Amino acid sequence: MRKAAVMSCKAAAAAASALAKLLVLVAVITMTEAATSAGAGAGDEPMYETKSIDPSLAVMTLPAPVTGPESLAFDSRGDGPYTGGSDGRILRWRGGRLGWTEFAYNSRHKNVGVCAPEKKLVVPESVCGRPLGLQFHHASGDLYVADAYLGLMRVPARGGMAEVVATEAAGVPFNFLNGLDVDQRTGDVYFTDSSITYRRSQYLLVVAMGDETGRLLRYEERRRRVTVLHSGLPYPNGVAVSDDGTHVVVAHTGLCELHRYWVRGPRAGKSETFAEVPGYPDNVRRDGRGGYWVALSREADSDDMAPTVAVRVATGKKGGREVAEALAGFSFVTVSEVAEQNGTLWVGSVDTPYAGAALGR
Ligand SMILES: *[C@@H]1O[C@H](CO)[C@@H](O)[C@H](O)[C@H]1NC(C)=O
Repeated sequence: MRKAAVMSCKAAAAAASALAKLLVLVAVITMTEAATSAGAGAGDEPMYETKSIDPSLAVMTLPAPVTGPESLAFDSRGDGPYTGGSDGRILRWRGGRLGWTEFAYNSRHKNVGVCAPEKKLVVPESVCGRPLGLQFHHASGDLYVADAYLGLMRVPARGGMAEVVATEAAGVPFNFLNGLDVDQRTGDVYFTDSSITYRRSQYLLVVAMGDETGRLLRYEERRRRVTVLHSGLPYPNGVAVSDDGTHVVVAHTGLCELHRYWVRGPRAGKSETFAEVPGYPDNVRRDGRGGYWVALSREADSDDMAPTVAVRVATGKKGGREVAEALAGFSFVTVSEVAEQNGTLWVGSVDTPYAGAALGR
């Protein structure tokens, strides 16, 4: 089972590098309850079935030329989503009439001419920053941002200038910050540095070269300190803090698996495989029911026009973790995050000039 998953990951790597980036709208597909219990152990075929439901996707288009709403976050009132775009700014969705408005910017937007938003230029993203993982600390209202190039940043609740709070850990500079989540009880920020060898612009190499220089990090606001929890990791990407704060679930993209790292309590420091997923996992978000939504940047082993773009991983009847639900669609478009808020699934993508909301589930 494990072997097959790794092999199909490699096959998908070859396919991904040749991938055309077309924009195709989404169809949302869920599995039937009956399919969950049927077909256990039936060879290499997935044990869940997909079923089409009405694809009532609302599209929220970013102000041109901004693209790539990679991660989505909601503030303590549940408003949003907020997202980071290709021009390095954080935008806030204000509903259909106002659309996206600026919530935060960084020092480059003030000090580097080409980064000024009114210039509307497309410059290399490393110049103006590239916000990836986002999460609010609800008690303080602060928004934490993993910027792939500029480091760990914090935006005050009112928005405005993002402050850089850390750029290195244990003497090693951050190189490719990616996923981020906040433990709402303690305010601790968990985030990943996907590789200390390759930058975000070279992310295909992280998979192709089998890079294992990623890190899992924790920032404690009280001590203003970053701790390296684990280093030497294979492409750590999305991260989600468990409901009880004892562990975090991290996506290892090239392995097509989720790993569990214990961070509090008697098991702290230990880790184990949490679940295998049918594609390259990107961001991971709690689903509010004890499980996780996992965006898949490409379904392993598939040239399907409607590939699986996200799965919900939950505890199954036998106690193990399994895929409980799957979303299909966005053919040739990479889905980077699925976040559930107010009963709606919000979809982020690093490729598209819009985010999506699957209403009426
Ligand atoms: C979610 O619901 C809350 C409470 O009704 C509301 O204030 C908030 O704006 C909603 N969020 C979104 C994104 O629709």
